[in-house]
Amino acid sequence: MDAIRTSLDIKEYPDTEVQKNRVLTLEEWQEKWVERKITFHQEQGHQLLKKYLDTFLKGESGLRVFFPLCGKAVEMKWFADRGHSVVGVEISELGIREFFMEQNLTYSEEPITEIPGAKVFKSSLGNISLYCCSLFDLPRANIGKFDRIWDRGALVAINPGDRKRYADIMLSLMRKGVQYLLSVLSYDPTKHGGPPFYVSDAEIEKLFGSVCSHQCLEKVDVFEERHRSWGIDHLVEKLYLLTEK
Ligand SMILES: C[S@@+](CC[C@H](N)C(=O)[O-])C[C@H]1O[C@@H](n2cnc3c(N)ncnc32)[C@H](O)[C@@H]1O
Repeated sequence: MDAIRTSLDIKEYPDTEVQKNRVLTLEEWQEKWVERKITFHQEQGHQLLKKYLDTFLKGESGLRVFFPLCGKAVEMKWFADRGHSVVGVEISELGIREFFMEQNLTYSEEPITEIPGAKVFKSSLGNISLYCCSLFDLPRANIGKFDRIWDRGALVAINPGDRKRYADIMLSLMRKGVQYLLSVLSYDPTKHGGPPFYVSDAEIEKLFGSVCSHQCLEKVDVFEERHRSWGIDHLVEKLYLLTEK
């Protein structure tokens, strides 16, 4: 118990500069899908989101929910099944097709006229639209604003040098009254290069603080034996709720 408490009470790491020049290209992400290096995917969905889902939805209906860097997150189906509409963006076409196939959803695909070479995949019911392009190109497609944002494996996957651009896009997608759930990871960034990249509390304030307040809802020890190969011996997930000031 003491060991668990110690790891969860871990303070912020001072050295957040150490990962700042790390870059993964879009092609490298696409290769991860081809080579099945997708241990980030959670087949059962995200347990903290499951726990906070009702609080997050606040009993509201017909919400627009945004999934940045969505992969094939099964949580997209949770929202759709509750009557909300989901928009995701993901660079891997393979990931998007796997989502629809694994969730037994029929879909259609069409080009995104504003983004040459990009496509949008839509469920036949029209309640899930997944844009296959870079998040940084997405604003050109004018996808509107959102009531909820579920950010897991997204800010932590963005190259640290692109975080400000990323946050500015998120801020531009927020509808009044938005609730933004953000999952980040805490570990010693001098031991592992990322991704996932370490995101400190101060960084969240720097990126979103002009518009949003943030509160940490929960910290969970998510360390598994496989993480030893990253050179770390503890890993804590932190779930934040961001709301407009
Ligand atoms: C760590 S995974 C997380 C996926 C998903 N959110 C989940 O929780 O399973 C990050 C995903 O972002 C995609 N990706 C990385 N950079 C991207 C970008 N600039 N635009 C769109 N997708 C991107 C990758 O292909 C990968 O599927």
